[in-house]
Amino acid sequence: MTKPKHVGIIMDGNGRWAQLRGRPRTFGHIKGARVAKKVISACAEMGIENLTLYAFSTENWLRPEQEVAFLMRLLGRYLKRETENLLAENIRFSVIGNVASLPKEMRTVVQDTISATQHCTGMRLIFALSYGSRQEIVATTKALALKVQNGELEVSDIDESLFSMNLSTHPAPDLDLMIRTSGEQRVSNFLLWQSAYSELYFTRTLWPDFNRTELEQIFAYFLSRERRFGQVTEQYEQPSH
Ligand code: FPP
Repeated sequence: MTKPKHVGIIMDGNGRWAQLRGRPRTFGHIKGARVAKKVISACAEMGIENLTLYAFSTENWLRPEQEVAFLMRLLGRYLKRETENLLAENIRFSVIGNVASLPKEMRTVVQDTISATQHCTGMRLIFALSYGSRQEIVATTKALALKVQNGELEVSDIDESLFSMNLSTHPAPDLDLMIRTSGEQRVSNFLLWQSAYSELYFTRTLWPDFNRTELEQIFAYFLSRERRFGQVTEQYEQPSH
């Protein structure tokens, strides 16, 4: 087994981390952003080709208005500040999710960061922003239906490969490893199609306490797993010589 080509992380537990310290939830998000920065650099350094971070879900809009506004400002500031580092680390930035629903300043920062890093050839960093996987699957279905309606596509052309190619994560491959922090064992509408054969790793660590050592342990666990994609062991065993 080789290292994962595509890693997805549900960065959960910022609020609880802060509350445990008697601090406002926003304090946890600030620390969470610092951890994200370290994890991004660590993944790039370890040669991970694609990293998707669940930064803001469609459901997160339901949080108190002030917290939503804070998260938007934090994400915007983070991207502005980090663009230079992304360039230095040859990281190509992209976004999945309903970008149109983001505040205007945020859309501008997102677009600027995408443009500034589009020539980078190292790790692809994907922020899921205002993202929901069911919404993504419905949008892909509609886009394909429209092509059929316009005569650009036959219904018989639609298969798993074509569907994957029309998802917003394309050209990143399916997810190999999904990590969720904070002890919750849910996928929460994150990359449902792309994680069909992923290893799932749930850790009790709250996101602000997550670090490179734990990430390396998770990668070691991943390497020890035998992924058979529904087949039997022998079909996936490498010859010993
Ligand atoms: C979950 O903590 C985290 C989020 C709502 C979004 C993730 C955002 C960050 C890690 C900060 C910014 C990130 C970047 C990449 C700059 P929670 O509030 O759900 O925690 P809780 O479950 O304890 O309430």
